[in-house]
Amino acid sequence: MKISWFSFIFVLVVLSSASWSALADNHEEFIQCLSHSNQTSSNIYTPNNSSFPSILQFSIQNLRFNTTETPKPLVIVTPVSESEVQRVILCSKKTGMHVRVRGAGHDYEGLSYVSEVPFVIVDLINLRTINVDVNDKSAWVEAGSTIGELYYRIAEKSKTLGFPAGVCPTVGVGGHFSGGGYGVMLRKYGLAADNIVDARLIDANGRILDRVSMGEDLFWAIRGGGGNTFGLVLAWKIKLVDVPEIVTVFTLDKTLEQNATKLVHRWQYVAPRFHEDLFIRILVSKLNSSNQGDGNNQQTIVASFNSIFLGGIDRLLPIMKENFPELGLRREDCIEMSWIESIMYFAGFPTDGPLDVLLSRVQLSTRYFKAKSDYVYQPIPEGGLEGIWRFFFEDEAQSSQVILSPYGGRMDEISPSAIPFPHRAGNLYKIQHLVYWDEEGEEVAERHISWIRRLYSYMAPFVSKLPRAAYINYRDLDIGVNNIKGYTSYVQAKVWGIKYFKNNFDRLVHVKTKVDPSNFFRNEQSIPSLTQWKNKGE
Ligand SMILES: Cc1cc2nc3c(=O)[nH]c(=O)nc-3n(C[C@H](O)[C@H](O)[C@H](O)COP(=O)(O)OP(=O)(O)OC[C@H]3O[C@@H](n4cnc5c(N)ncnc54)[C@H](O)[C@@H]3O)c2cc1C
Ligand SMILES: *[C@@H]1O[C@H](CO)[C@@H](O)[C@H](O)[C@H]1NC(C)=O
Ligand SMILES: *[C@@H]1O[C@H](CO)[C@@H](O)[C@H](O)[C@H]1NC(C)=O
Ligand SMILES: *[C@@H]1O[C@H](CO)[C@@H](O)[C@H](O)[C@H]1NC(C)=O
Ligand SMILES: *[C@@H]1O[C@H](CO)[C@@H](O)[C@H](O)[C@H]1NC(C)=O
Ligand SMILES: *[C@@H]1O[C@H](CO)[C@@H](O)[C@H](O)[C@H]1NC(C)=O
Ligand SMILES: *[C@@H]1O[C@H](CO)[C@@H](O)[C@H](O)[C@H]1NC(C)=O
Repeated sequence: MKISWFSFIFVLVVLSSASWSALADNHEEFIQCLSHSNQTSSNIYTPNNSSFPSILQFSIQNLRFNTTETPKPLVIVTPVSESEVQRVILCSKKTGMHVRVRGAGHDYEGLSYVSEVPFVIVDLINLRTINVDVNDKSAWVEAGSTIGELYYRIAEKSKTLGFPAGVCPTVGVGGHFSGGGYGVMLRKYGLAADNIVDARLIDANGRILDRVSMGEDLFWAIRGGGGNTFGLVLAWKIKLVDVPEIVTVFTLDKTLEQNATKLVHRWQYVAPRFHEDLFIRILVSKLNSSNQGDGNNQQTIVASFNSIFLGGIDRLLPIMKENFPELGLRREDCIEMSWIESIMYFAGFPTDGPLDVLLSRVQLSTRYFKAKSDYVYQPIPEGGLEGIWRFFFEDEAQSSQVILSPYGGRMDEISPSAIPFPHRAGNLYKIQHLVYWDEEGEEVAERHISWIRRLYSYMAPFVSKLPRAAYINYRDLDIGVNNIKGYTSYVQAKVWGIKYFKNNFDRLVHVKTKVDPSNFFRNEQSIPSLTQWKNKGE
């Protein structure tokens, strides 16, 4: 395989007239094509429709891409049925329109609703049916659903079933499962994508496929290989997991004065080795605390040890005493609750409040942000941690965070090639670096983004190398991009491809070349097809 790919590597990418026409603004034709079908015009929005801005903005989850300069789609379509989605794909293909698929819009770089080339958004917001089958311990989840809706629907039917996906309930299953998807149960059950058993997908030819008709290669690729690349997922079939009737949560905040550095340092050795029922992550941020006496505001760092245990307090306390006594966890720090209440707890909602807040698609607060990810193989020395804390005292870091999520347990057992997500045994934990701000403007954005880039450079000696691995669901265009106007070379894509997918990158390219040779589904970080030049080159 590799040898034949190399013959393409040095091909100069020249835009042909055919490829230019594929980028033209054909949206009139596109709309005409849609109106000749059964597609009701009630869900086609062009900029001259007064609902267009609100439909577009509703699922923008990062204010960096909510500005007047942000490129806007020519058309937004919000299909209400599978056949309507199919029609949109067929008409886009026929008229050469570029398509971006949007689930719930959480892409960190806005790729589901921003493109530099003329484009339409297929927004799946109206496809949200969730069918939970308690006897089969499975569910079919339409791709426009959020994970909050999924958790809610599971809890409606069962107190002892759950699903191991992300923390923030507004995240969409469309993008989340396509990139792996992890949450607080990953040490016991792995990722969301590890628990997908079937899917319905529209391929680049507009065919609707399931697991059997798409075949195991394509089914492998869509479980972690990234969204908007292999096709449009209509629905996922997932395997639900057992959860106990009672789980325990706690959050312990430790400042520098309370030995935060030593505790974070120690955590690196113990957290990836705990019993798989125990998950303790750390959220690090700056804290202004008033200094007793002189009344001055003094800045410190707070490390927040944020945990769930899949069992009761009586079983948790001895585990903590044996494995992490330094944290000093006491019975009164712990709260027992149901699994769905723990979802509310991690989402920041009152655990005794109404569960239907999980159905909301609007975040508690939407801000400007930039994020990056890292994987850690060797514990970072205390001095290294202190260097991170220094970044938090800079001006741009008023609202910044580093989140450490432990691996181990089930994550160590799953083969790195089982699905495209490759970060398994050997990883102690994952880091997410985040910086937020609240003012509009290029200059403000530049300052904050430059801060996180400097932090990222500082981290280099302490984290994974060759490749410096990254998590695709924390999308970061700094690590490399495709040229989506022209055609992407394998070499260009491999720069970011091996960071996200390591040795799985080549298999992803192979699948892409087979199922979507003309690169119909694409974005700045989608897997390239090797034959795109052969077909369109001259
Ligand atoms: C506030 C917040 C909290 C988060 N928390 C977590 C977390 O706890 N764990 C975690 O793992 N990640 C988390 N993430 C990251 C999240 O998993 C990714 O951003 C994910 O891709 C979002 O999916 P979406 O459908 O909401 O996003 P979208 O922006 O709609 O989609 C993301 C990508 O997938 C494509 N896509 C979407 N739907 C489909 C589909 N049906 N078929 C094909 N392609 C599709 C889009 O084109 C885009 O490229 C979080 C993100 C945010 C903003
Ligand atoms: C229109 O809808 C009907 C019934 O849903 C279907 O049989 C027919 O194939 C559709 N036609 C087109 C052009 O999609
Ligand atoms: C805008 O779109 C909505 C929904 O499709 C439709 O009801 C309305 O008539 C449209 N308005 C204009 C001005 O096109
Ligand atoms: C809105 O735009 C569409 C296509 O862009 C056009 O056909 C239609 O006439 C426009 N409607 C109005 C009211 O301007
Ligand atoms: C996005 O921008 C629009 C227009 O400037 C604004 O009305 C809207 O409130 C913004 N969205 C958010 C979540 O701030
Ligand atoms: C910090 O750690 C030292 C030992 O390393 C210990 O003596 C001290 O009591 C700890 N302080 C706090 C607040 O826990
Ligand atoms: C913390 O203190 C800084 C100045 O030292 C101030 O600018 C900032 O607003 C404070 N943050 C909070 C959350 O109080």
